[in-house]
Amino acid sequence: MSSSASAVKPSEPAPRFTNIITSRPEPSVGLITLNRPKALNALSTPLFKELNEAVRELDEDPEVGAIVITGSEKAFAAGADIKEMKDKEFSDVYKNNFLESWTLLTKIRKPIIAAVSGYALGGGCELALMCDIILASSTATFGQPEINLGVIPGGGGTQRLARTIGKSKTMELVLTGRNFSAAEAERWGLVSRVVEGEGKVVEEAVKMASTIASKGRVAVIAGKEAVNAAYELNMSEGLRFERRLFHGLFATHDQKEGMAAFAEKRKPKFNHS
Ligand code: CAA
Repeated sequence: MSSSASAVKPSEPAPRFTNIITSRPEPSVGLITLNRPKALNALSTPLFKELNEAVRELDEDPEVGAIVITGSEKAFAAGADIKEMKDKEFSDVYKNNFLESWTLLTKIRKPIIAAVSGYALGGGCELALMCDIILASSTATFGQPEINLGVIPGGGGTQRLARTIGKSKTMELVLTGRNFSAAEAERWGLVSRVVEGEGKVVEEAVKMASTIASKGRVAVIAGKEAVNAAYELNMSEGLRFERRLFHGLFATHDQKEGMAAFAEKRKPKFNHS
């Protein structure tokens, strides 16, 4: 072999994801970290493509019971990518149904926990709202500042906020564009809990995901489906839907095992069927 040929190094495979990092802090927990630090995790189309691919894979992986999405200490995500959007025309965004790809997250059947530190603005706030549970560090700053850009939220902010915190507060936030704190978000029921200490919110989210993953998966999926139905159905339809799901769980191994274990004073061994 010539010396020049031996100097050529085999090329490294290109990393699969460049805008996110995926990891498994525990075998049953998938952790996705948004990773565009220079743009404060602005949610570009390539980032969302990777995010969709990663969550879909985790949803299909039988070993995984719950998913955590996080960002950095400075930013969960500072919104949709304004630089990508700024020159778009109505006909492009309308024809191509811009932001439609963001909805995949809401079709994922396993629970998704958002662990939010720093800025969760615009699309970043909406991304957190698309998750099932939001944990926030005390540094988290939420907001829907789109009005300052001459637009309104386009990733579900007006609808999900209104259903969670009511009309008056949502109007104030959407029409003034003012930010709100983790403490306000917790007080209004947007965030399930505020976690103190640097890095602790991800730790806490992984712990919560691990607890969820230790339960029977069929019941977990049914629980998520039932709670989400509360946002879509009226009360009597919602109650009927819940009851039917509850009835259906009597066809599972995990119901037999869970109730037998209680009666026998032992821990249940769920097998997710
Ligand atoms: N899109 C693209 N780039 C962004 C961005 C965004 N949403 N947010 C921040 N960045 C970039 C900045 O342009 C800057 O890049 P350069 O270094 O190349 O200039 C870098 O990230 C760091 O940002 P700043 O220098 O502005 O950092 P800061 O600490 O001074 O301010 C901030 C932080 C208050 C979050 C500020 O960056 C900001 O206001 N960002 C925009 C927030 C926003 O308006 N979000 C809504 C977007 S629209 C939307 O999301 C629509 C929807 O509903 C789907």
